[in-house]
Amino acid sequence: MYDVHSVREDFPVLKDVIYLDNAATTQTPVPAVKAMEEYFLSYAGNHGRGAHRLARETTNHYEDARETVARFLGTDAKKTVFTRNATESINIVSRGFPWESDDHVIVTLVEHHSNLLPWMRLKNEGVDLTIVRPDATGIVDPGEIMSAVTDRTRLIAMNHISNVFGSTQDVDTVIRLAHKEDVKVLVDGSQSAGHMPLNIASMDPDFFATPGHKGLLGPQGTGVLYMKEPDMIEPVFVGGGMVRSVTDSGYETEPSPAKFEAGTPNMPGVIGLGRAVEYVEEIGVSDIEKHETSLARVAASGLSGIEGVEVYGPENRSSVVSFNVGGMNAHDVAMILDQTKAICVRSGYHCAIPGINFLDVDGTVRASFALYNTEEEVELLVDTVSSIASMMA
Ligand SMILES: Cc1ncc(COP(=O)(O)O)c(C=O)c1O
Repeated sequence: MYDVHSVREDFPVLKDVIYLDNAATTQTPVPAVKAMEEYFLSYAGNHGRGAHRLARETTNHYEDARETVARFLGTDAKKTVFTRNATESINIVSRGFPWESDDHVIVTLVEHHSNLLPWMRLKNEGVDLTIVRPDATGIVDPGEIMSAVTDRTRLIAMNHISNVFGSTQDVDTVIRLAHKEDVKVLVDGSQSAGHMPLNIASMDPDFFATPGHKGLLGPQGTGVLYMKEPDMIEPVFVGGGMVRSVTDSGYETEPSPAKFEAGTPNMPGVIGLGRAVEYVEEIGVSDIEKHETSLARVAASGLSGIEGVEVYGPENRSSVVSFNVGGMNAHDVAMILDQTKAICVRSGYHCAIPGINFLDVDGTVRASFALYNTEEEVELLVDTVSSIASMMA
């Protein structure tokens, strides 16, 4: 197991705050920031667009980052596309999929809006949507999902880990059963990538989307999309960098991944992401998972022992703990945590209004953990929430 205190040296902001909003975005380690600084100060050029040394060096570093991310996730680099975030990754699939009128998509009620709105919007194109409900802890039964499959179902889009409940979905079973019915599966891995060991090749989804700025520790403005059959997807954006030939009567696109990366990409961000993923590999994602889930379980058990506090989600949770202090607005709790102890948590709907409505509350407070959080921080969270709850008693 790694030494959390030496890891913290790589995240200087942690000296000033207790950062428990990692499900929204994580801090980026110094080596990744240095890789971006090196890009700007030593070799910035454009990707794939020049014979000169800076363009070549930028292209090499960018493509090395792709190899690193693909190795880490267990994907084929040619099918691994860089995007701005998970939202863009999912929209690339929803906009580019070869839909036909009366096609059918299945999602779950515990999706982030980014994995809900892109499918809802397809209604305008005659694509029907079924939303499958979870159990009380945010787990969706693969059997319920499969019973919603009809002969028009083309795709199931579901989260791997819920950003509200911290529940892990049985995506392996869904993928296996869906493929028997010739239905494709998109996994939203926003809360799993970098938080647990993943091998996309053996998981075998048709699409896997993740931001680069959460568990992968990369900078904001980075995301990843894996597509098993990229040729079936029409690119949303066309323009420079993704085209092989153009005549006055038309154009021929490059194959994936270039086909989906039109325009000048986020070279510094991707290069930083590549270095951040190496950092995660150096520490070891299995140990990260053990550390984070242990903190989350200690937090959940401490919080649920406080009178008036309700904790949501399954016992066997990932690194996310949603809760409420009875009689208090979640934002007020979050403000007090920040102002009294510099504890940064998320509050509100977490971009998942249907999931929060399902809990029949106006929002939750959410503490979410990363590799650099400590048991002392969890203790302080629990003690501070306990003081807040006692003010309400
Ligand atoms: C489960 C889930 N899906 C999608 C997203 C959207 O990620 P991004 O903001 O990088 O597009 C998030 C962000 O919190 C998330 O938790």
